[in-house]
Amino acid sequence: MDHFTYRDGRLHCEQVALDDLADRVGTPAYVYSKQTFTDHYRAIVDAFSALDPIVCYSIKSCGNLHIVKLLASMGSGMDVVSGGELYRARQAGADMSKVVYAGVGKTDAEITEAIEAEIGWFNIESEAEFENIARLAEQLGKPAHGALRINPDVADPRTHAKTTTGSKETKFGVDIARARRFFETYGRNPHCRLDAIHLHIGSPIYSPEPYVDATARALELIDELRAGGHVIDTIDIGGGYAADYESGKSPAYQEYADALVPLLRGKDLRVIIEPGRTIAGNAGVMVTQVQYVKESTSAAKRFVIVDAGMHNLVRPAMYDAFHFIWPTRVAPEHTPPHRAAEMPLPGLETSDIVGPICETGDTLAKARDLPPVQRGDRLCVFTAGAYGMVMASNYNAFPRPVEVLVDGERATVIRRRETYDDLVLTERDAHPV
Ligand SMILES: Cc1ncc(COP(=O)(O)O)c(C=O)c1O
Repeated sequence: MDHFTYRDGRLHCEQVALDDLADRVGTPAYVYSKQTFTDHYRAIVDAFSALDPIVCYSIKSCGNLHIVKLLASMGSGMDVVSGGELYRARQAGADMSKVVYAGVGKTDAEITEAIEAEIGWFNIESEAEFENIARLAEQLGKPAHGALRINPDVADPRTHAKTTTGSKETKFGVDIARARRFFETYGRNPHCRLDAIHLHIGSPIYSPEPYVDATARALELIDELRAGGHVIDTIDIGGGYAADYESGKSPAYQEYADALVPLLRGKDLRVIIEPGRTIAGNAGVMVTQVQYVKESTSAAKRFVIVDAGMHNLVRPAMYDAFHFIWPTRVAPEHTPPHRAAEMPLPGLETSDIVGPICETGDTLAKARDLPPVQRGDRLCVFTAGAYGMVMASNYNAFPRPVEVLVDGERATVIRRRETYDDLVLTERDAHPV
């Protein structure tokens, strides 16, 4: 469900042809569809409406100020994991009472800023962190509010090893037995009120079952804690809902909701969800330009070398992630009927699509079927809105790309392309310390 469509052989974002836009802003460029963001946000709110949840958009997935503003203006809360993300949320005018703050390594400065800002909940990851938040809250004379992040140790969250967070080998949260002791020790602390449970089992999770499994464990714990005299009024079931990297591969929001709503309804709990990828993923693409096509005779391979790489979009190199890649202009017979690794079209050529970085791992796609392309053609890397630009770096001293938000026929630069001067700006003022 997005607004990137081919019309007369040209890929459009809403009403804007992407190759025209690339003429104006250059490549590589991240391009976002406003309508897709708003459709996704409304669809997830509607799907879970029986629970009337607080939806906290996960800023880490796509944190451009204008995107965060857009979602805040629709009533979204925010999931943050750093002082910088909290700053973004505040700059965007987000409702601080609907901010949740996770992360295993919050510093004193970050905790202080969040207490001062009166955020909704700290998602607390360890005993030492709880004690520190309570200490700082006491010092500031302002109460903090905590949700204990539990690690439900779900059997198979079915995601990549680097993005699973709900099994007991990870650094996140505490296991269920430890959670009981946690509440015994800290459940009645006057400076940090602990009356919520948080979980986040990984991302992307392509089926509702691991959520059901994890939530059922959390609810059992809540029943036990309540029986022991603790007040628990909130459950935050995290994010991780999949985005459609290939057409039809991710469950509809309604499927997650149909599995989770019956578990959570009538439990006298405020429910929080923290979607990021599922809102932002299909709302953004990265447009890149072919620099060279290189045949490798020995390995019988063709490399399509483009001006974007792992420094712009690290997901393929880091997680072996699949992104559908296709030219922005195509002959009629090459209009893609859907987005998938294998395309049932004539005359395709198999290529590795690689970037300019001096690493063999700098690959956007391996052995991918593409219509014939040549130097100067533009390719679109789809479903790049989440964990795309936010993970971009200046590796090999490439300035980071421009970001553009399209709204109907209007395109707005929402982050300018970096310059060479930006690369050295923070290095100019060397001084002794
Ligand atoms: C605590 C927490 N909540 C929410 C998210 C968002 O996940 P996603 O963007 O897959 O929905 C993450 C992602 O890492 C997370 O760590």
